Amino acid sequence: MGNRPRRKMKRSVLVTREIPREAVELLRGNCETVEVHRAERPLTRQELLEKVRGRDGILCCLTERIDSEVLDAARGVKGIANLAVGYDNIDVRGATERGVPVSNTPGVLTDATADRAWALLLSVARRVVEADRFTRGGRFQAWGPMMFLGADVAKKTLGIIGAGRIGTAVALRSRGFEMKVLYNDPAPNPVLEEQLSARRVGLDELLRESDFVSIHVSLTPETRHLIGDRELRLMKSSACLMNTSRGPVIDEKALVEALEKRQIAGAGLDVYEDEPCLTRGLAKLDNVVLLPHIGSATVATRTKMAMMAAENLVAMLKGERAPNCVNPEVYHRSRQVEP
Ligand code: DGY
Repeated sequence: MGNRPRRKMKRSVLVTREIPREAVELLRGNCETVEVHRAERPLTRQELLEKVRGRDGILCCLTERIDSEVLDAARGVKGIANLAVGYDNIDVRGATERGVPVSNTPGVLTDATADRAWALLLSVARRVVEADRFTRGGRFQAWGPMMFLGADVAKKTLGIIGAGRIGTAVALRSRGFEMKVLYNDPAPNPVLEEQLSARRVGLDELLRESDFVSIHVSLTPETRHLIGDRELRLMKSSACLMNTSRGPVIDEKALVEALEKRQIAGAGLDVYEDEPCLTRGLAKLDNVVLLPHIGSATVATRTKMAMMAAENLVAMLKGERAPNCVNPEVYHRSRQVEP
């Protein structure tokens, strides 16, 4: 009876943004009602509060703040799947208290995000974006020996803040550039130490010694403003700072000041403190490369992320343990999932 159509669950799911088709099909194959908010913009707060009402499952993005108000509006929800590895947009403790499992999408976006960090690093070091603007602006009149001089990358020191999956992948990509690698992490990283002879150091030492600093920590109360005025002053005036993690890890006002005063040479940012708003002055600087939070944005990666989120949600709706649950303690509480 393998060909008999699967019986759909009497479940109602909200998908807060348009996501790759395969993932929507997976949800539609399993659930009776799947509403996808297809607009180019995120749901407004009011829309979100209204649309989560009466849902069994929510597949959301980092643009949705899932706090206690939303969790209360979504009373009865059986699972929340975040389309991201980071889940600082969700009040996980509040979800756990309400017996709601939450999942993320670890692993599948590691390479894409590491590549993006390197794209930023090379763009900043070799002034790619500035030079592109110059060329397409019709200002390239003749080759010049002093035109767009940038910084060497090969054989320099790379500092990795947060040596988890993505930080490790970024560091491993430095092999081709024969870089010295320093990293800062609460735990030793045997892969980096064995394969790159990387050294685990304190944050201050990393900032003082690195030519390129790349941030890969999750956003927590401990990492908010991890890099502020004091830390930026420790960096070399020739150093560049890259952030593909979460904006609030850097005090953006302090960063703008440091860049304006050329206290550091440059920065490459994919994320912002008050996304999508930029701190005043940031966009005027020519020593920054600014991207609109697209670290994991490749066709294949976003498809994998969406499929992973959908699979997690289907599991949660079936009352099964979600493979990528970030609050597994929720399963230790007694929960009833109605058939
Ligand atoms: C994540 O997954 O946390 C990214 O920021 C979105 O791709």
